[in-house]
Amino acid sequence: MKPVIFQPYQNEPKKPLSAIQQEVLRLKKERNAVILAHNYVANEIQEVADFVGDSLGLSYSARDAKADVIVFCGVDFMAETAKILNPAKTVLMPDPASGCSLEESCPAAELAAFKKQYPGAKVVSYINCSGAVKALSDVICTSGNAVKIVEHFPKDEQIIFAPDRYLGSWVEEQTGRKMILWDGCCCAHASYNAETLKKLREELNAPIVCHPECQKSARDVCDCVCSTEKMIKWARENPSETIIVATVAQMIHRLRREVPNKTFVAAPPPNADRLSCRHMDKNTIEKLRDCLKNMSPQVSVDEEIAQKARAAIEKMLEWSK
Ligand code: 13P
Repeated sequence: MKPVIFQPYQNEPKKPLSAIQQEVLRLKKERNAVILAHNYVANEIQEVADFVGDSLGLSYSARDAKADVIVFCGVDFMAETAKILNPAKTVLMPDPASGCSLEESCPAAELAAFKKQYPGAKVVSYINCSGAVKALSDVICTSGNAVKIVEHFPKDEQIIFAPDRYLGSWVEEQTGRKMILWDGCCCAHASYNAETLKKLREELNAPIVCHPECQKSARDVCDCVCSTEKMIKWARENPSETIIVATVAQMIHRLRREVPNKTFVAAPPPNADRLSCRHMDKNTIEKLRDCLKNMSPQVSVDEEIAQKARAAIEKMLEWSK
């Protein structure tokens, strides 16, 4: 597949906001709402959001939101995390069917049974999991702070890391400690293969930045492995004028705005011209407008689950300061 090349943002004529984007901004004001958007959602949404960021930045923004309504443009576990951290707010989601393959790979009942095999082990769960799995965890992590969170435990502490085995193996490499890894993965990132990335790197003579949800063999041919937020600083500081990005391609919109003088190339997985997340793609500007108009769909979390999950998420926010 031919890769998609995005020329420097600074050379592009700026477009005015569309009628529907303006309607979203009007409704947002009317509802006293704040729009939080993950780096992986459509550019049209990123352009009207109050905060665009990674899972960690979005968790802080949700916890600290002062508006009456939080509209979360991302996937269900992110909106659920917002409701858990700021339960007095109304939390809306453009499409509640936007889930996550990692979340699906780790049902709470199976994790509860797994924990019984390792009495005394601490459970560190990647934020890409359900509220019920968070409630079974000692602490949560994101890709941006996973190393720091794991290193917070004494070296001899036994750790179960769920649900992403690839992020888990990357944390093992970074920390030099073995963990008990849950066997889940992100089906989008896991589709990258080393051969395609290596060939692209040679053809373009440009460095690659990838997300730690990629398989080890793919990560090993990349120049930097980091969370979506950290990609921005890395792209800015790297001397190359062209940067290849091996993660969900919508990330490039944020990168272009923040690093407007560089060319970004979306690294293609084997069977498509760019990597996409079918769940993130369910967020459309029309659904964003409609959820603000109808004040629905709203996110709710079982109170008992919320209480336990909140403790594990707040511990993460405290430890990653
Ligand atoms: P971050 O938000 O931590 O960069 O992770 C992105 C991601 O891949 C979520 O599935």
